[in-house]
Amino acid sequence: MIIKNNNTFHLMGRNVSYIMAVDECGNLLHVHYGKKLADRDYSEIRKNRSVWAAYDEDDETLEMSAQEYPSYGHLDLKAPAYSVVNGSGNSIAQLKYKGYEIRNGYAPALKGMPSLFVGDKSAVTIELTLEDKIAGIRAVLSYTVFDEYDIIARSVEIINMSDTDIEVERAYSACLDMGAGDYDLIHFSGGWAREREYFRTPVTQGTRTDISNERGGSGHVINPFIMLAARNADENEGSVYGLTLVYSGNHSSTVECDQYGSIRVMQGINPFMFGAKLKPGEGFQTPQSVLSYSDKGIGGVSRALHDVFGNNLCRSKWQHKDRPVLINNWEATYFDFTEEKLIQIAKRAKEAGIELFVLDDGWFGKRNDDFSGLGDWYENRAKLPSGISGLAKRINDIGMKFGLWIEPEMVNPDSDLYRAHPDWAISVPGRAPALSRNQLILDLSRDEVCDYIIKSICNILGSANIEYIKWDMNRPMTDMPYKGYNHKYTLGFYKIMDAITSAFPDILFEGCSGGGGRFDAGVLAYMPQIWTSDNSDAAARLKIQYSTSMGYPVSSISAHVTAVPNHQNGRVTSLKTRAETAYMGAFGYELDITQMSDADFETVKAQVARYKELRTLMRAGDFYRLQSPYETNYCGWETVSKDKSEAFVFSCRILSVANSRDRRVMLKGLDASASYIDTACGRIYGGDELMYIGLEPEYAREDFSSFSVLLKKL
Ligand code: GLA
Repeated sequence: MIIKNNNTFHLMGRNVSYIMAVDECGNLLHVHYGKKLADRDYSEIRKNRSVWAAYDEDDETLEMSAQEYPSYGHLDLKAPAYSVVNGSGNSIAQLKYKGYEIRNGYAPALKGMPSLFVGDKSAVTIELTLEDKIAGIRAVLSYTVFDEYDIIARSVEIINMSDTDIEVERAYSACLDMGAGDYDLIHFSGGWAREREYFRTPVTQGTRTDISNERGGSGHVINPFIMLAARNADENEGSVYGLTLVYSGNHSSTVECDQYGSIRVMQGINPFMFGAKLKPGEGFQTPQSVLSYSDKGIGGVSRALHDVFGNNLCRSKWQHKDRPVLINNWEATYFDFTEEKLIQIAKRAKEAGIELFVLDDGWFGKRNDDFSGLGDWYENRAKLPSGISGLAKRINDIGMKFGLWIEPEMVNPDSDLYRAHPDWAISVPGRAPALSRNQLILDLSRDEVCDYIIKSICNILGSANIEYIKWDMNRPMTDMPYKGYNHKYTLGFYKIMDAITSAFPDILFEGCSGGGGRFDAGVLAYMPQIWTSDNSDAAARLKIQYSTSMGYPVSSISAHVTAVPNHQNGRVTSLKTRAETAYMGAFGYELDITQMSDADFETVKAQVARYKELRTLMRAGDFYRLQSPYETNYCGWETVSKDKSEAFVFSCRILSVANSRDRRVMLKGLDASASYIDTACGRIYGGDELMYIGLEPEYAREDFSSFSVLLKKL
């Protein structure tokens, strides 16, 4: 619901209020974002000044007031939300309120970019128009309230109202002037094979923290999702704000704390090397920033994001379907496979109950290692005598679905495509572009390049019964030829994704980028699951999946059981722990199943059956983190069905400790007054007992020992 009360705009979710007010000078001020308030006129509230300042009235208001979309060039000296070089060559502006429009049941579709859609949920949008007459710019601030989830999605359009060209140098999608308070910043940083580690640091006076990325894609190193948590907030309790950018290019989330301790948080496209020139009448649309607030701690924010991203972001048919258990040949064979070897793997996998066979890298062009072939999207008949369609048929005849790996945004210099179109790779005239993994990136800002990719990939997808695609992107972007290039590339990527996923709506698409290097809400709009990390070691995955779940639905977290010693870090963990860790997400195997002992094979069979029993619950339930691997020697999580009739609990003790007592696992989200039965042993517990006394753990006397329990309500 959105209510206008005099000069106050009040956006309400079920438990949340977001309030803005127009002051007497026409400034749009930020009044409140947080716990729900009653409908009143709050326009006076930001006039109470608790600090004496040496400026005159109006200037003081700017410095002390919380602003909704702050400008540059006035006596608010924090970083501005936007900067536009006007026809006079300066960037000074001051946006003043012009008008508003409220539209029920509506969420704007952003031109060329993914964004949340309404679907069958309720949503209401307010568009506030602000203008600076001297600079000749108009900004339309858009807010869509998804009241059921307490989610507010924001974006901005900046329009050139002048009669000269202007250049947008920065345009954040959202700004939150939170006032003075004691908050911690939570962000997710890592690298290849250790994506999205959890970091929590106090926000202190006089700092400006820029959680930003210039790697071209959203990146392994910094994820476009941050949280601001009240100092006393934890996983379960306290005020926490989440900001997620629905964007896959260079991004920035900034947190600034001024001399008064007032905090300004912004999120949007990274201003570094950004620029958008606008002719008179043209507009620039920012991506969407998804805001979530909960007083139920980090877990509350996560569950809201799981729901909104699970229901209102991805239009794939697979979003609400159970995902097939897959086997991928990458860690089984790498590039070294024959058609017969693949068939052997598929046959054995089928016997274990696995449903989808995925052929990874190495099936196309001259691709026997990573030095050649990218760009040549036709099958390598030397390796696959039956071709892709013949192989797909053979796999289908075994009784499995067939899936394929592709990396369409890339080209190897040693490829037919590059020899024919060397100018299609991103480069700057006179400079040799930097190679990474021996490959270059195709210039997705050009229509003919996008058209080639769409055509060549559609050719393959139409040529065989392909039911799954793993879409990879294996290098950072360098040699960007001009300011604003990265955004144009990102729009090209979305155009391609939109065309291909619309042409093949039945295919299950999985995103990938050197593991989890492009795990973002922009990708999730097209592909309901993403390969979370190339690191498939169970112990490493505990942390990676635990923190990834803070911002993204568990149904999007692709997780595989691989061989030991693990190929990335050499660790040995039990087959049980590997599978139980991977049950959390879209589950599969990535190992040579033909080489397994009979005993292990029987275990795999049982694991596959177990996952099939769990997968609807894991995909559609409410997810609770129980024990943090960042803070304890344990990692635990739980999924409870929306009707609380079943729950699956997982816990792993990371290192074995002699002569110690293990912590009980305190469950969450159950019906306290109901009884639940442990489906394995038949033991009956009260819901209250499970939540307030907890489960007795059942670890083995070894490192990385996990156990799991499926509970059903009686
Ligand atoms: C990336 C992916 C891997 C695999 C290889 C193939 O690294 O993350 O899963 O597909 O590419 O080259």
